[in-house]
Amino acid sequence: MRRRLVAIPLLILAVTFQAEAVKIIDNGLAPPEIVHTPVSTKPRCKVFAPPLDLIFILDSSGSLRDKFQDEIDIIRRILKHVTIGKTATRVMLIQFSGTQHLEFNFEKFTDREELLAALDVLRHVSGITRIGGAFEFALQQLKTPGSGLRDGTVPKIVYLLSDGRTHDYPKDWQMSDVLRREIPNIDIWAYGTGDYVAMAALANYTQSEQKIVTNQNLQKLEPQFEKYHGTEICEQQPTCVKGSDKPLDLALVVDASESLDHLFSDQKKFLVDRVLGNINIHPEAVRVALITYSGQAFVHFKFNSFLYGNNTSVQGFVKNIRSIKGTTATNVALMDAFDLLTSKDPSTGIREGVPKMALVLTDGHSHRSPKDMAEKMRAAGIIMIAVSVTPRPLVDEAELRLIAGSEKRAFTPPNLHEFESEFMKYVGFGCDGIELPPDAKPQVRGATDVKCTEHSMSIVVRTQRALQGLMYAHMYHDEPECMMKKTDNNREIQMTFTEGKCGLVKTPSADGRGYHFNITVILQFHPLIITRADQGLDMSCFVPSAVPRQELDQAILKNAADTQCNYRLHRYSPGQCVALDAKVGETLYHRWECDSPPEYNYLVHDCFVQSEKHTQQILDSNGCEVDQHFLETPNYSRFKDYPDDAYVFQEMSVFKFPGDGDLIFHCRISLCNMKDPNAPCNQSIPPKCPKKVPVLPVRQKRDVSAEQWMSAEWRSKQIRKRQIELKNRSRRQIVETKQGYYMTLQVETRTLNVLLSESIRPRDSVKYCDIS
Ligand SMILES: *[C@@H]1O[C@H](CO)[C@@H](O)[C@H](O)[C@H]1NC(C)=O
Ligand SMILES: *[C@@H]1O[C@H](CO)[C@@H](O)[C@H](O)[C@H]1NC(C)=O
Ligand SMILES: *[C@@H]1O[C@H](CO)[C@@H](O)[C@H](O)[C@H]1NC(C)=O
Ligand SMILES: *[C@@H]1O[C@H](CO)[C@@H](O)[C@H](O)[C@H]1NC(C)=O
Ligand SMILES: *[C@@H]1O[C@H](CO)[C@@H](O)[C@H](O)[C@H]1NC(C)=O
Ligand SMILES: *[C@@H]1O[C@H](CO)[C@@H](O)[C@H](O)[C@H]1NC(C)=O
Ligand SMILES: *[C@@H]1O[C@H](CO)[C@@H](O)[C@H](O)[C@H]1NC(C)=O
Repeated sequence: MRRRLVAIPLLILAVTFQAEAVKIIDNGLAPPEIVHTPVSTKPRCKVFAPPLDLIFILDSSGSLRDKFQDEIDIIRRILKHVTIGKTATRVMLIQFSGTQHLEFNFEKFTDREELLAALDVLRHVSGITRIGGAFEFALQQLKTPGSGLRDGTVPKIVYLLSDGRTHDYPKDWQMSDVLRREIPNIDIWAYGTGDYVAMAALANYTQSEQKIVTNQNLQKLEPQFEKYHGTEICEQQPTCVKGSDKPLDLALVVDASESLDHLFSDQKKFLVDRVLGNINIHPEAVRVALITYSGQAFVHFKFNSFLYGNNTSVQGFVKNIRSIKGTTATNVALMDAFDLLTSKDPSTGIREGVPKMALVLTDGHSHRSPKDMAEKMRAAGIIMIAVSVTPRPLVDEAELRLIAGSEKRAFTPPNLHEFESEFMKYVGFGCDGIELPPDAKPQVRGATDVKCTEHSMSIVVRTQRALQGLMYAHMYHDEPECMMKKTDNNREIQMTFTEGKCGLVKTPSADGRGYHFNITVILQFHPLIITRADQGLDMSCFVPSAVPRQELDQAILKNAADTQCNYRLHRYSPGQCVALDAKVGETLYHRWECDSPPEYNYLVHDCFVQSEKHTQQILDSNGCEVDQHFLETPNYSRFKDYPDDAYVFQEMSVFKFPGDGDLIFHCRISLCNMKDPNAPCNQSIPPKCPKKVPVLPVRQKRDVSAEQWMSAEWRSKQIRKRQIELKNRSRRQIVETKQGYYMTLQVETRTLNVLLSESIRPRDSVKYCDIS
């Protein structure tokens, strides 16, 4: 099995180092609990607009100082009206006065917001006005390879923003003519800046007054660009849910000793925007206590303070704190924080078993070193983060590192942008992912912790909404110790699996440095039925431990007897997402896969499709099709073509039994050692099937009733047999070995819900398939 592994930021509390991973089994649907990070709030847009290369030539000469902002506003209005994009309008901007400067070429921006942001930082240059020089410079720039100018089929508009009063007459109108001659498909338009516009000069460049806009007829501006307006269809902006339900007891320790006023307000702003703005203050999530200090420390409120138990109230309080005259006694403040965080007194609101963090905002320079106190706190398991908004050289960086105990958790302006990525590990992070950047990682919202000991694996899953349903080890839902039923409103579920039970697999790592634990857990958001929100998680973690040589050798010689197989239905291709629903007539791919040793191939045979009322055989005991309208003989080409990533597959057009929406497919898979001279089975893989003459034209009607060719008696016998089989099914899927083969396993798909209409499926399910 080749699925991508996804590391989840985890809280490493255990004493030993562990590596954990959670990968989400992509079922092709977007469960509400899955989010994608890194958060990007930019919507994905589809652009339909004609192309245009737009060149702004912006007069920045001295006479226009007051009018410069007007010109920028005109550019803004144009940019907001046309569609910016790789295939739509692309923009070059030149500023000029006596000299010229290229601000950016066509390659620089394909995004409107970024373009508009670039305008914010343009500065008025001042000097004399040389429009001719500007046209000449523009011509050079357009001809420069790499400018991003498209070919002659794409219209070009040179848009001059100026009052038309130039110091290099007649070069101005001469150069405008040269520009027209040398660049195919070019036109010159203008905005006449200010109240004294030299219309005759501008009209000379544009060759028509119709192409000039002034403050007298500004309403004409957008209509002129109507042709390039285009349409943009953007996905809905994701609603970002920052913070999560990962609990944390957080002591904010704020240095309020008098320093520069603006630094103190910067510090408060940091606290409000980047600390409080990213957490969910809630009795079940983050509880906050606040200490400010100078020579003395003041505890303003403790963890369970009713008055400061939500975002708004804490933010409000922080905004109003004032600096205090006095020395800086960080050591004293830390001592108070330590007492609070290690308190056994429940009235402080401190929670047992919840991670503790002290976030210290200071620029250092403590009167007495906070080193010893900080060490003591870290030794007690308190996560220490130190932050300063004070730039060098005023900040005492060494002291911040002493407090944090690591450069990684000490933040000063040069690395302050990395603060969130560290901080968020402890509070969780999530955002409904619509935009999926290339490195998007699916996560379980609210974070998942995986911890291993030598003989067990514990997982804690926190969901955004309370899970009322089941969490169980895949295939072990009917064993009480492997299943947990939840009916309360708690959003946290914890389970521990021990070695040898519930399918927890422990394997020595190849390098002999420890063991991997693997398990698949299913979250079922309904106590009885599988819903679209259900989610499978493949969890793993690593425990360092010296693996005995002997065991390692055994592990490398992977035992064929341990082979496990699975059977899934995929949408789009056998390599893409697993389908839990489909509509009649849609194409799905059956995929059978075993983790058998390389010399083993396998035959898929005795397959049935089963619904509540019907059972129909679709592959016979030789692995051949029974009726190609159900399923054609599977394709075994990957054993030859991709021996390292082999599976058996076949395409199917989805069908449905009348009145019976849910289908399960089940098959037997028989393993064969292809290199064993005593095994006759290698002749039967792939199966050699007689060519069947189709009874009906291929791919005609699929939703034929199975009743047409099944006697009631036969049917009920099949169902009875199936029920016995299901009851008797061995955990390891092993069934009676097919003659001539090494071993036979029984596999089945998850329930496929067949819909008659497409509309039930979320429209955007496709993009969620892209993640696996
Ligand atoms: C306009 O262009 C003509 C040449 O085509 C030139 O003679 C005339 O002086 C120009 N007028 C202005 C105001 O620049
Ligand atoms: C606090 O903020 C978080 C994230 O911004 C939000 O999810 C949560 O609902 C807020 N809580 C309250 C009580 O406003
Ligand atoms: C936040 O807490 C304050 C003080 O308890 C309370 O007055 C206010 O209504 C709360 N706000 C929200 C949004 O819960
Ligand atoms: C267990 O998980 C590890 C790490 O995710 C992976 O490398 C390994 O192949 C998995 N082993 C099994 C048997 O699934
Ligand atoms: C099996 O699949 C491969 C790859 O998709 C294809 O090239 C080949 O023609 C298929 N074989 C049969 C018998 O359909
Ligand atoms: C099956 O095994 C025999 C004996 O090793 C070998 O001669 C034969 O070529 C194999 N057949 C296939 C199709 O691999
Ligand atoms: C059920 O399993 C037992 C052994 O586990 C086996 O002896 C028996 O034949 C099986 N029954 C059926 C109907 O498969």
